[in-house]
Amino acid sequence: MAEAGGKPRLAGKVALVTGAGSSGPGVGTGKAIAITLAREGAKLMLMDRDPGRAGETLAAIAEELGSRDIGAVCAGDVSLLADCRTVVDTAIARFGKLDILVNNVGISRNTDVLGLKEEDWDAILDVNLKGMALMASAAIPHLLKSGHGAMVHISSVAAHRPSGTTVAYAAAKGGVEAMSRSIAVTHGEAGIRSNCVAPGNIYTPMVAANMDERKRRDRRMGNPMRTEGTAWDIAQAVAFLASDEARWITGQTLIVDGGYTAAPIGWFTAQQRKAGDAQP
Ligand SMILES: NC(=O)c1ccc[n+]([C@@H]2O[C@H](COP(=O)([O-])OP(=O)(O)OC[C@H]3O[C@@H](n4cnc5c(N)ncnc54)[C@H](O)[C@@H]3O)[C@@H](O)[C@H]2O)c1
Repeated sequence: MAEAGGKPRLAGKVALVTGAGSSGPGVGTGKAIAITLAREGAKLMLMDRDPGRAGETLAAIAEELGSRDIGAVCAGDVSLLADCRTVVDTAIARFGKLDILVNNVGISRNTDVLGLKEEDWDAILDVNLKGMALMASAAIPHLLKSGHGAMVHISSVAAHRPSGTTVAYAAAKGGVEAMSRSIAVTHGEAGIRSNCVAPGNIYTPMVAANMDERKRRDRRMGNPMRTEGTAWDIAQAVAFLASDEARWITGQTLIVDGGYTAAPIGWFTAQQRKAGDAQP
């Protein structure tokens, strides 16, 4: 929200958000992050492989804030270096500088290590890990020119508490957190910060297709707050880490999960059992 005195936290900043659309009806993290950064006063370059989806995000921002001049859309695939460079160059051409990169794109497929298909491993690592490194490498020269900058990469609790069926996803997200710390160390002296936000089991279009009411209830019971997180919870954490309020925070991961990773091993199963017992 706005600082005392009414100035939005990101006034005057230019932010690039990758995967700024939503893969289905509702609000995914990329869309929520873009809308939240715009509310905080940032100008936005919205990148998505599907520009129509990012266009919907821009339209939602325009409708709420009353101006299309707040942002622009650029089509691109984060797993291709040429596309990453093009979207960064387009942001510079449009807004003159870059202050913030939000590496949001991530895809998921079930992969257990014994039945692992090489193409699944390659697809997930290409998008979820290489894509974030390529975007960072395209953005950093411009952040260096600005003399400051903030990067926020979207990880996952899967990097900390992986399930056995998401081996490639967990490996990619663990890599994202290590990559982020490495960037923080290399570019800290130049005033560039690099942090991660690790969402817990939030309800977004990315997971909605595989959810029913029972699974949603189990997920609620699986964290100490007994509530379900949303993309907006993630967006608030990103806005904070992107802002100057976080000026001395770098190389860190902020886990946003309703306490899921704080609970002792076995807690989740015990809660599920209790919930099951309570059912008729
Ligand atoms: N939903 C959850 O429960 C959850 C939990 C933990 C972490 N996350 C992380 O949140 C992030 C994304 O969440 P979301 O809800 O915005 O996802 P989403 O599925 O809604 O996707 C956002 C956008 O990314 C775009 N996209 C996909 N591949 C792309 C590529 N190669 N290049 C450019 N754009 C591409 C899609 O077109 C889509 O519009 C991911 O990093 C994901 O791993 C989600």
